[in-house]
Amino acid sequence: MDMRRSLYEMLEEYSAQDIYPFHMPGHKRNREAAGMKSPYLLDITEVEGFDDLHHASGILKEAQEKAAQVYEAQETHFLINGSTAGILSAISGCMLPGETLLMARNCHRSAYHAASLRRLQVRYLYPCPEELYHLNGGIDPAQVQEELEREPNIRAVFLTSPTYDGILSDIRTIAGIVHEKGKILIVDEAHGAHLQFHSYFPESALQCGADIVIHSVHKTLPSLTQTALLHFSRGNRIREAVKERIRRFLSIYQSSSPSYILMASIDRCMDWLQRKGTAAYDAYIPRLEQFRAGMGGLENIHLAGRELIGTACIAAVDCSRIVLAAPGFAGSGPWIYGRLLKQFAIQMEMAAEDTVVGISTCMDSSEGLDRLEKAVKYLDREIASGLDKRPKGQEDGQVFTQTEILRQMRNETILPIYEAADRPWAEVKLAEAAGSVCGEYLYLYPPGIPLFVPGERMDKEGIALLGRLMESGLAVKGLGGDTADPVVKICK
Ligand SMILES: Cc1ncc(COP(=O)(O)O)c(C=O)c1O
Repeated sequence: MDMRRSLYEMLEEYSAQDIYPFHMPGHKRNREAAGMKSPYLLDITEVEGFDDLHHASGILKEAQEKAAQVYEAQETHFLINGSTAGILSAISGCMLPGETLLMARNCHRSAYHAASLRRLQVRYLYPCPEELYHLNGGIDPAQVQEELEREPNIRAVFLTSPTYDGILSDIRTIAGIVHEKGKILIVDEAHGAHLQFHSYFPESALQCGADIVIHSVHKTLPSLTQTALLHFSRGNRIREAVKERIRRFLSIYQSSSPSYILMASIDRCMDWLQRKGTAAYDAYIPRLEQFRAGMGGLENIHLAGRELIGTACIAAVDCSRIVLAAPGFAGSGPWIYGRLLKQFAIQMEMAAEDTVVGISTCMDSSEGLDRLEKAVKYLDREIASGLDKRPKGQEDGQVFTQTEILRQMRNETILPIYEAADRPWAEVKLAEAAGSVCGEYLYLYPPGIPLFVPGERMDKEGIALLGRLMESGLAVKGLGGDTADPVVKICK
């Protein structure tokens, strides 16, 4: 007899618990947000009258036009397998095999996958290191300029803004530089689908002149997981042939059976933004500011915010992103993350070595923010009274070490990603891999930023970092074998 609990049973049990979600999806499991009936009743395919996402000419064309109108874009496409599909399609469509993509090294791994699938050469932009909380800062516009001047074969520039930590680069200045050189700027704004809907938030990438922008609607807005959008800006700088290629790649990378429930969720979210968005943000923002003010007087735990603007090439900060840090207390990230979950039933999005990240959206309840405020104040006192010295690595949680990652990211590229990914490979013990060329993506998820990319030289420092991450109980994705003695794929 199968004693396994089914996935559905686990979801039911989990949803019956009183665990408050400071993580995605942005609807926060608020039934009012989706306002949809049982999914089984609504789950159809392309029956008569329901159009075809891959050749939209009816209801789906209209729905996408409405989304374009909501975002003031020239053209918008529904994505039903996340920003991942949008990033793959945008890069694949803008670039021809062999061309060079200038991309930020702290990009989501889907950008690397696009570079690999399309057989691109890649040059990296490194985010400025932020010193106060050890976050990845913004991308320096001067670095963009320098790279474009050094390498005339660059066809497009790809950046992530805001980052997982709510850090925005100066997209307006970068767009000016990229456009002056006649190139295309693609911005992964997966974490910023909400920015455009209240002046409290920084300007969005579309408002700042980016040419193609990708949004995960599910991360910060009331819409179901996997829902996302790809926009062409009204700037009209992308040639029709390139747009047509992007449309073709959307058709290649997205399912031929797109879920109508997901598409309806995006459509309802657009309608909600138009009709109720302003009122919802007008109600949410004072509550969020009250929460932020409540964090102001703490001695040990800090809530990152606008003080970062102007440092480390950070042009703006999304204040709905809750980044908690206890500078000076090594390992405070996993400690705060674990205590919030176990003692206060608050599930945050992720922990880093020194920070904890929570996603707050306008679907958060006042009770949820209250609970978080009280819990953080309690933990702040506990740190202050020296009761807990943060037993590093002993709490459950998703941890990654941004400070170290920043240092490790400057790996030497030996082979283009596509060549390394397709090469014959061998498995060697990680401990013995120094000097080898990595044959696999090695990363923590979240945030999904590769520590090693296929084709990069593995050095002793990088290997030691992976060891340290695993010692603190983390699964480094891409490694095989035993966690005590892992193996890694290297290029032959
Ligand atoms: C910066 C960034 N871009 C893209 C993605 C992929 O988004 P999705 O999960 O909607 O495919 C993520 C996922 O977390 C992300 O953090």
